[in-house]
Amino acid sequence: MIVAIESSCDDSAIALVEIDSLKTVFHQKISQNNAHTPYGGVVPELASRLHAINLPKILDLIKSDLHRVRAVAVTNEPGLTVSLAEGVVMAQALSLALDIPLVTVNHLKGHIHSLFIDKEAIFPLSVLLVSGGHTMVLEAQSHSEIKTIGSTIDDSLGEAFDKVAKMLDLGYPGGPIIEKLAKEGDEKAYDFPLPLRGEKEIRFSYSGLKNSVRLAIENSLDLIRSDVAASFQRVAFEHLLNKLEIYLKESQIKHVGVVGGVSANSYLRERFIALCKKYDKTPLFAPMEYCSDNAAMIARAAVEEYKLGNFTDPANITIRSRVSF
Ligand code: KG4
Ligand code: ZN
Repeated sequence: MIVAIESSCDDSAIALVEIDSLKTVFHQKISQNNAHTPYGGVVPELASRLHAINLPKILDLIKSDLHRVRAVAVTNEPGLTVSLAEGVVMAQALSLALDIPLVTVNHLKGHIHSLFIDKEAIFPLSVLLVSGGHTMVLEAQSHSEIKTIGSTIDDSLGEAFDKVAKMLDLGYPGGPIIEKLAKEGDEKAYDFPLPLRGEKEIRFSYSGLKNSVRLAIENSLDLIRSDVAASFQRVAFEHLLNKLEIYLKESQIKHVGVVGGVSANSYLRERFIALCKKYDKTPLFAPMEYCSDNAAMIARAAVEEYKLGNFTDPANITIRSRVSF
């Protein structure tokens, strides 16, 4: 088995995956949402301190399995450096104490492998990655050959959901709350401008939309929050899928996955399926519980790294807050 640790943002998670069967045999996550709620976003120092408390609690549950572990994997990029460091320190200690190799995993590759939990990977693959930190279209020829087709020029989609939720005093993380509230609202109530309308380039922008929402809230005498949530969600996804469509029209790749926290959104999933159908593509999703950050996806990606023999010296791990493909 491989033991994998994920602590790139505000979720502390550990998973065990069987190398041969690809089965996730253990996964546990301790979320810090409640701790960050009063601040409307993740406070890095607090996240780091909570990882130091929570990761050992999870490791304690699998102490008796550690003798069967052949490698330890850890997310080393991208993410909050002070958060990543907590997982990395634990991985270094396990690698040295158990005398097993260490594998570092890119968090974005982890999200891609959330599509392949408990199963074989499919390549080539197109991926729409929508999370709190990223909004990207990626093209993967294999586990190691990944290129960026387009990404956001300012805020990420998840960040936009979180900021709009904060403006409406709804709590953190905003995505699931906005999705729920939007079901009761009129999505045509506000005519927010579609970002980068008419542009043929595949790139995203959410800061303008966020500001339009802010102005609408400030200028509304009789604010109906569900209408704001529904209208924002409609425009946010219309922009996302319009840009994805430019890519799908030209792409020869059959399988298209959507991953990251925002991919749990059912409004998005429905429209994503319809768009894939229009271009004769096969849509792929991660199981709901593995859309947001988790260690099962890191473990699954680590199996590929392990098979490629991509090991890292535990005394020489690079932690990076940003990366690009
Ligand atoms: O992938 P993730 O857990 O963490 C990062 O790697 O960033 O994504 C978290 C983001 C948050 O911004 C959260 O508001 C958003 O995913 N999110 C959603 C939904 N569930 C989570 N956004 C829209 N609809 C949802 N149902
Ligand atoms: Zn993530």
